[in-house]
Amino acid sequence: MNNNPTTFSDEQDPVLKDLLARPLRDLRISLTDQCNLRCTYCMPAEIFDQDHAYLQKDQLIRLEELERLIGAFVRCGVRKIRLTGGEPLLRRGMVEFLGCLKKFSEIEDLALTTNGLLLPTFASGLAEAGLHRVTVSLDALDPDIFARMNGRGKHPDQVLNGIEAAKSAGLRVKVNMVVQRGVNDSQVLPMALHFKAAGIPLRFIEFMDVGNHNHWDSGMVVSGEEILTRLAAETTFEAVPPAHFGEVANRFRYMDDGVEFGIITSISAPFCRSCTRARLSADGKLFTCLFASKGHDLLGAMRAGNPDDEALYQMVAALWRTRDDRYSELRSAVGINTPTKVEMSFIGG
Ligand SMILES: C[S@@+](CC[C@H](N)C(=O)[O-])C[C@H]1O[C@@H](n2cnc3c(N)ncnc32)[C@H](O)[C@@H]1O
Repeated sequence: MNNNPTTFSDEQDPVLKDLLARPLRDLRISLTDQCNLRCTYCMPAEIFDQDHAYLQKDQLIRLEELERLIGAFVRCGVRKIRLTGGEPLLRRGMVEFLGCLKKFSEIEDLALTTNGLLLPTFASGLAEAGLHRVTVSLDALDPDIFARMNGRGKHPDQVLNGIEAAKSAGLRVKVNMVVQRGVNDSQVLPMALHFKAAGIPLRFIEFMDVGNHNHWDSGMVVSGEEILTRLAAETTFEAVPPAHFGEVANRFRYMDDGVEFGIITSISAPFCRSCTRARLSADGKLFTCLFASKGHDLLGAMRAGNPDDEALYQMVAALWRTRDDRYSELRSAVGINTPTKVEMSFIGG
């Protein structure tokens, strides 16, 4: 079902490539490993409210250090930045920080992934600071299902209010729904119909085996194909061709109103071959795969060696050139499963 093109057009910049000829285009930055929810599939309370070791203040990358690193990534080819976490809106100073990114005129797409709870407070400031769009996570409209899944008893209306605030501030909005069989798969159709009527693109995400504590089991994955079959019972839609190399979601459009939705099939149809993403954790480590167990300590190198901007750029470029990760493909092909993976809240989803 993956309709990503499999080659990178020669017409695009002759940029830095990794060992599988993939350019570096997207950078996902985790601004904090803290979150105000305890989603059972991401930061389950029984682990993250107990003896989990969160980053200490001096371990966190400072925003001015981050700005310098972003400069190196932009030189390497990054054109899209997504701020995430943890919950990125919990990071103090992040709105002002966004404003500083305006100087990188090469950045074409500046996005934020959030659970939406703090958007009523921050949406207009984010828009003024130059944010282009937000992706809001919401896994159910049913209050009981959502309260159970978010681990803090929150009501879906709190997230819907955040979505409204973002729209009123002029931000483009998408919604992410992680689908788990037996947990919230009953919500696939209600969510689809709700966001179709609202004109907001909804993206269904296959439940992934990230982290070590979410009791992932392949039986809990509802495949993209199955989601499409369920939607076809009530709606008609057509596939939309990918807009660019490396697009994560397979996109579709409802025939009657043209509203789009997407499916992210990291489990059933991995897209490693077109993965142009790097991830930076809140303590400044570079991860070249969501399923990695170890990152490259860029912040440590910055603090120890005080490299100038050229040296910083060379450091990032050298790491990208030697990248050969393709975990999801290998999981499907030979059933590998990395014993200890980094948590999604740490690396940034
Ligand atoms: C880790 S969260 C961080 C940003 C923010 N706190 C939020 O809730 O959107 C980013 C995204 O990762 C998704 N996610 C977390 N764990 C996942 C898993 N095991 N499988 C698929 N998606 C997951 C979340 O649903 C969310 O859309």
